[in-house]
Amino acid sequence: MKLWWSMELENGRKNLDRILSSGSFSDGDIVYLLSLREEKEVRALAKRAFDETTRQVGENVYFRGLIEVSNICTLNCRYCGIRRANHALNRYEMKKEEIVELALWAANHGLGNICLQSGERQDEKFVDFISECLKEIHRKTVSERLPNGLGITLSLGDQEKNVYERWAEASGNQQQLRYLARFETSNERLFDFLHSAKGKSKTLDRRLRALKDLRKCGYQVGTGVMIGIPGQTLEDLCADIRLFEELGIDMLGMGPYLRSDGGELLKYGQMEPRELLQLSLNMIAVARLVLKDVNIAAATALDVLDSNGRAKAINFGANVLMPNLTQAKYKSGYQLYDHKPSVEKEASSVLEKVVQDVLGSHRKIAWNLSGSSPHWRKRQISNSGR
Ligand code: 5AD
Repeated sequence: MKLWWSMELENGRKNLDRILSSGSFSDGDIVYLLSLREEKEVRALAKRAFDETTRQVGENVYFRGLIEVSNICTLNCRYCGIRRANHALNRYEMKKEEIVELALWAANHGLGNICLQSGERQDEKFVDFISECLKEIHRKTVSERLPNGLGITLSLGDQEKNVYERWAEASGNQQQLRYLARFETSNERLFDFLHSAKGKSKTLDRRLRALKDLRKCGYQVGTGVMIGIPGQTLEDLCADIRLFEELGIDMLGMGPYLRSDGGELLKYGQMEPRELLQLSLNMIAVARLVLKDVNIAAATALDVLDSNGRAKAINFGANVLMPNLTQAKYKSGYQLYDHKPSVEKEASSVLEKVVQDVLGSHRKIAWNLSGSSPHWRKRQISNSGR
């Protein structure tokens, strides 16, 4: 006679096989997959997600060189180390020449893409500054190797629609232009808890409107959430995945919520690192299974939990890595969370680490390629057929 617990385990496994072999997933299935912890089960989930990745987006891993343009921020997101009210920080703005120099470095090292990220500002000086950087990067990086110039991703917060249009025009290359704006959580109450320090600085509605505006302006649109936010449930994460589907997003960037000394959520703690890592990897895998043909980035924050965190994410369905090219002298001023990895390292050794991450997996590095998600390419075809 079998003991009740071993029967239960066996039932669980059968259940897992049934769910993984199916092509569509109920909310119950999603929550169940997110909750997996047993090594055998987690390995089965990873294998299924890895194979789905190969089928949907191929064997390549794409690099986007991250440039943290400025840590000046007008917002007060309570989880974030560079929020406005953190006065313990030296604020910096990179010079245009420094940004262009890093962009050229990326182009010369075969990265094909960069991501300009900054604290959130809407003032004209900033908008104009970004336009000038985009124009010059495009002008200087069109080459035989990169006929459309360096691919650009912007991660510069909520802006008015006309600002997205101005930046698209300045980029000289609207076909490869991408924008990342995480909605952080689809649970409105949780969102308000995260953003309502000293007056509402950000609303979920506004962020969702931004994502829709970006799509209308022709951008490839990326979003994402934090995983393991205090008070967040597996059902919330399932609802996040449903919202990604509903928005028809092209790219995803999701990472663990980590404690931040500069934030003001310290008293709520952080999930135990190993559990948080597994939940984050499960979330990537399940998002891959549900969303199929989108690009999914392995967030740098994963490397805080495990020095191979991003490499593991590749095995769970991620196909984009974002090596941080920002000069060491600025990087320590851009700590969204504690223990940011490689703050003392310059671009070449950061790049070496992500190369090793890919070499250790069964993937290939896509040098000099833009790597638009098949989801976005199919969207273009169906738009032009209308
Ligand atoms: N832990 C994890 N991710 C964070 N971010 C900001 N603060 C933290 C933190 N404490 C993420 C947010 C934001 C992105 C730029 O960085 O998701 O969208």
